[in-house]
Amino acid sequence: MVFLPQEVIARKRDGNVLTNEEIAAFIAGFAKGSVSHAQAAAFAMATYFQDMTMPERVALTLAMRDSGDVLDWSDLDGPVADKHSTGGVGDNVSLMLAPIMAAMGVYVPMISGRGLGHTGGTLDKFDAIPGYQTQPDNDLFRRVVRQAGCAIIGQTADLAPADKALYAIRDVTGTVESIALITASILSKKLAAGLGALVLDVKTGSGAFMPTLDRSRELAQSLVEVANGAGLKTGALITDMNEPLASAAGNGLEVRNAVEFLTGRHQDPRLKEVTLSLCAVLAEMTGVAGTVGAGRMLAESALSSGRATERFAIMVHALGGPGDFIDNLDSHLATAPIIRDVFAQGTGTISAIDTRGVGMAVVALGGGRSTPTDDIDHRVGFDRLAGLGTRLDAHTPIARIHARDEASAIEAERRIRAAYVLGDAAPAHALIPDAVPYTTSQEI
Ligand code: URA
Repeated sequence: MVFLPQEVIARKRDGNVLTNEEIAAFIAGFAKGSVSHAQAAAFAMATYFQDMTMPERVALTLAMRDSGDVLDWSDLDGPVADKHSTGGVGDNVSLMLAPIMAAMGVYVPMISGRGLGHTGGTLDKFDAIPGYQTQPDNDLFRRVVRQAGCAIIGQTADLAPADKALYAIRDVTGTVESIALITASILSKKLAAGLGALVLDVKTGSGAFMPTLDRSRELAQSLVEVANGAGLKTGALITDMNEPLASAAGNGLEVRNAVEFLTGRHQDPRLKEVTLSLCAVLAEMTGVAGTVGAGRMLAESALSSGRATERFAIMVHALGGPGDFIDNLDSHLATAPIIRDVFAQGTGTISAIDTRGVGMAVVALGGGRSTPTDDIDHRVGFDRLAGLGTRLDAHTPIARIHARDEASAIEAERRIRAAYVLGDAAPAHALIPDAVPYTTSQEI
């Protein structure tokens, strides 16, 4: 077959369904440089407008997976699984889910990313722990997965490099928002990580990548169908991001919140519900529990028995963090020079939260990035964030702010006040998770 990239682009532009061979040749050519960036941008725009069928999305996902290494965990004596979140504010679920699953006998090699814009990134949270290596070499990564049962790190091997290059092009050509492209982008990296099962936490609401429930459902359905079609057993929950998930937002503060959760000192109820629900689905998918209900019980026991905390402590130490991190949090997590309460301007009940605005207030404090190369201050952010339905007055603050200087504190206070809407009553608030059941590859 003579392969001409411009013909593939034109066929997609005109609304045709591409063949597996066309998609594979286009991505392989892009990875080796014979398909230019201009052609990749045109391909992304044609896909944005004409969309892709599920089989086309599967082909695109597999082609991007095959542009780099695929990890192999067949030497481990248990199931290998992971979770992926589409990103939120105060979303530190990974920090608890990985050690809970490890305590249940599931290996979790979690390759996570950095935050950009209003959403936080798991790697940035771990950078708040002194000594913790987020970029270990492959040998150390494998050793820690074996020893602790989980390792949360940044990318080591060359996983799905075609996705990295295509994402950079999408980012500057207005083509990020295509569900077909998002699906292939997320899943190509997860397939390259060599997992046996995956659970997706698809966020919906004011702090989510997909703000409406319909779009979130569409994304969840696409991810689940395509992942299973590509041979990775995958399920999804759609969870609410109309308010921050944890009562803390900001890197070091979310690590503290996670450790307090694991040790039982403080557990935010919505965070607990989402974390244990995801663990329960993953337990059933990996076969360590016969049903989701049984998985939930196993997860609760892994948490309350302290076994998950133990796994977390082993992982942190094995990756270079302090051996006494859990017991001496105060001496290991740096604190910001300014810590004070932020009060609303009036009195009333929190009826809505612009969660994206809360995330942007963290960025204004220096705790997030506006561009990929920005440095992060791991000390800053908010804790004691009030949730929807809380009555605020002169004694009950919106949150406690942690700032590095007065100017950033004032700007972040302005932003968080604007993000909190006060009314007479709490919103009629449906606490999702809404499960999207997983299917097998044959059912597609
Ligand atoms: N996250 C990804 O990895 N890729 C996308 O396209 C969107 C979110």
